[in-house]
Amino acid sequence: MTLQAAVQAVRGTHDILPDEIQHWQRLEATFRTITARFGFSEIRTPVFEHTELFARGIGETTDIVGKEMYTFQDEGETSLTLRPEATAGIVRAAIQHTLVQQNPIVRLWTTGAMFRRERPQKGRQRQFHQFNAELLGSAETEADAEIIALAAMILQNAGLTQFELHVNSLGNSASRTQYRKALTDYFRPHIDAMSEESQKRLERNPLRILDSKSAADADIVKGAPLLTDFLDDESRTRFERVQMLLTALDVPFVLNARLVRGLDYYCHTAFEFVTTRLGAQNAIGGGGRYDGLFEQLGGVSTPGIGFALGIERLLLLLAEENNDHGKQAETAAAPDVYVIGLDAESRTLALKTAHRLRLQGFVATTDAGARSMKAQMRDANRTNTRFVLIIGEAERLSGNVILKQMATGEQQECGIEDTARLAEVLSGR
Ligand code: HAM
Repeated sequence: MTLQAAVQAVRGTHDILPDEIQHWQRLEATFRTITARFGFSEIRTPVFEHTELFARGIGETTDIVGKEMYTFQDEGETSLTLRPEATAGIVRAAIQHTLVQQNPIVRLWTTGAMFRRERPQKGRQRQFHQFNAELLGSAETEADAEIIALAAMILQNAGLTQFELHVNSLGNSASRTQYRKALTDYFRPHIDAMSEESQKRLERNPLRILDSKSAADADIVKGAPLLTDFLDDESRTRFERVQMLLTALDVPFVLNARLVRGLDYYCHTAFEFVTTRLGAQNAIGGGGRYDGLFEQLGGVSTPGIGFALGIERLLLLLAEENNDHGKQAETAAAPDVYVIGLDAESRTLALKTAHRLRLQGFVATTDAGARSMKAQMRDANRTNTRFVLIIGEAERLSGNVILKQMATGEQQECGIEDTARLAEVLSGR
């Protein structure tokens, strides 16, 4: 590899530059505020785990485990994988630290980078970020309604308007076994006409065929039996109750009998938030119930439900919907004061003065490059600094400085050691 190639970000990864970060921080603030309203606590788990955790948790036959994981051998024999999603790691942590034994209902959220070796395109990266929430310990339909209402409230508060919530029920395992059989029976006579990928999936995981994007499969998939027709009474009643609760909470939804999700741990409620704008990557987020996952990972049987939102996709859509991104940029926190030192000795005093003001809680910047006064004034203008404070030899000798308000040109004299007075002027008193 050439040095030129080595100093480019790896394909499918992105730098988040200072001029974009405020959008990330605003979303993160929304996640924090809204999850707190629902009584969720933050958890942070490692970005890599044992490969086996994801293979067992997400399912060997899924695309994620089958072809998208970043897996490496650690020294010795251990196979490790960069997390492709957060749920398996959170459930692992809950089992390891007996969280549900200490407190029967546990509400957790996390946010961070996830890694999937997918083909990069708009809204699809190899390192991407998710906001993730999990409600552990309740098999009740109230938990389903709460988790979906939380996701919807986050999207609304973030300012997103053009989206739909799709819900489906995958039923209990008896329903799914029946359905799997019906699907295999339905696809088998058509299989020679179908894509290679679907041929492979027929025996291993026929539900995945429903997600096929291949044109060859489209018509055949359209005629496939629907999971909802195979729900047993218990699963059906449960799903009806979830719908009733969502209606009671005023969360609009669309029934989508074709929604199967790409991870194997789901049962009963499955849901996805999709954008109503055009584009290939239409899922903003998704989730569902995973009552078998704890046992699958060797823990005590514990029900759970959760969801993840894709932060990059959410930001892309917010930008397209033009939700005040421009306005936000203008109102980004501007420094209170730029302290300019005109010569070497004055620069030391400028540094000390700025530092004293920071200790008072003001945003005070100085030039770290010993540039000319003109260059420093330009810098102060560029950063929308409210005041400049200029220190030269005359100011050092007299002990008095001029604070100039940039917007009005108004000037006020002040003792340089008089921190209280400087603070008053900067606070506009
Ligand atoms: P997921 O549907 O695989 O679910 O991912 C959730 C969201 O992450 C997607 O809807 C999408 O917005 C975003 N996402 C996924 N892959 C990419 C990618 N390559 N580039 C950009 N964004 C992406 C899960 O991960 C489950 N763990 C959700 C969950 C939590 N279920 C229960 N609890």
